[in-house]
Amino acid sequence: MEGRTVLITGASSGIGAATARWLACQGMRVVLTARRQDRLEALAQEIRAQGGAALVIPADLASFSDRQALVRQVEDAWGPVEVLINNAGFGYYGTVAETPWEVVERMFQVNILAMIHLVQLVLPGMRQLGRGHIINVASVAGYISTPPLTVYSATKFAVVGFSEGLRRELEPYGIHVTVISPGPVRTEFGRAASGLAVDPGEVPGGLNPEAVARAIARALRRPVPEIVIPARYVPAIWINRALPRLVDWGAARQGRAWLRHLEKARSGGSG
Ligand SMILES: NC(=O)c1ccc[n+]([C@@H]2O[C@H](COP(=O)([O-])OP(=O)(O)OC[C@H]3O[C@@H](n4cnc5c(N)ncnc54)[C@H](OP(=O)(O)O)[C@@H]3O)[C@@H](O)[C@H]2O)c1
Repeated sequence: MEGRTVLITGASSGIGAATARWLACQGMRVVLTARRQDRLEALAQEIRAQGGAALVIPADLASFSDRQALVRQVEDAWGPVEVLINNAGFGYYGTVAETPWEVVERMFQVNILAMIHLVQLVLPGMRQLGRGHIINVASVAGYISTPPLTVYSATKFAVVGFSEGLRRELEPYGIHVTVISPGPVRTEFGRAASGLAVDPGEVPGGLNPEAVARAIARALRRPVPEIVIPARYVPAIWINRALPRLVDWGAARQGRAWLRHLEKARSGGSG
């Protein structure tokens, strides 16, 4: 991995920032992108202080032209992207009926359309090199759709499906594709999805973002098509596939309880 250029989206916090730190420690040249430039600059300073190489390119991934400019700037500075980690994404806690349309559109832009577009933009460089690795961050919600994250789940189902086809398409060119699907991770996701200043509640047993970063690093060393982390979610995914009606009942109930909890948190109650 030493000296290879890796473009990490959503590097300003959570899984993206942890992955950037981890891969920079392994000697990779990391390109950090997200909207919050101050966060990216602080992380780049930290990486450089430890002898690593980091480049900051702020971008709003919902913007077509920002995505084009991002890849152009990486290539001008450091040549072709050898590893692309499509990690940026966000969710929204709410019923389908109540989710504002702008949020639905933006979520699809950032979570899946930006992913497809960035792949299109980096592929010519990878094809020229004759190698590459694309890692797409999905979610367990990309296999099990649970309200009140139904729209988010739809974007992540798309990520899983896109990654499967992409893997089959790119195998002959020596370009690996891995889709990684974490269960709950302790990041700023909950705050962003609820619009609250404080996370409305951590799911018990949530992972540290570093665990996901390490799994990504392992996949880069030894490419695998799919990772579900933690592995205890694999049986749940199979049960959901085999017995969806059984899961329906529990998921719907849990979704309603979560919405009530959010309602309380939003109105300043104890939740
Ligand atoms: N946390 C979980 O429980 C969990 C579980 C499974 C999967 N995931 C997935 O993991 C990925 C990372 O999320 P996280 O948990 O680390 O959450 P996070 O801490 O909220 O990080 C999300 C990242 O996405 C970036 N982002 C959001 N909108 C963007 C936009 N329009 N343009 C550019 N960057 C944008 C954010 O940067 P800026 O705000 O600075 O732009 C931030 O760096 C997401 O795809 C998420 O769906 C999370």
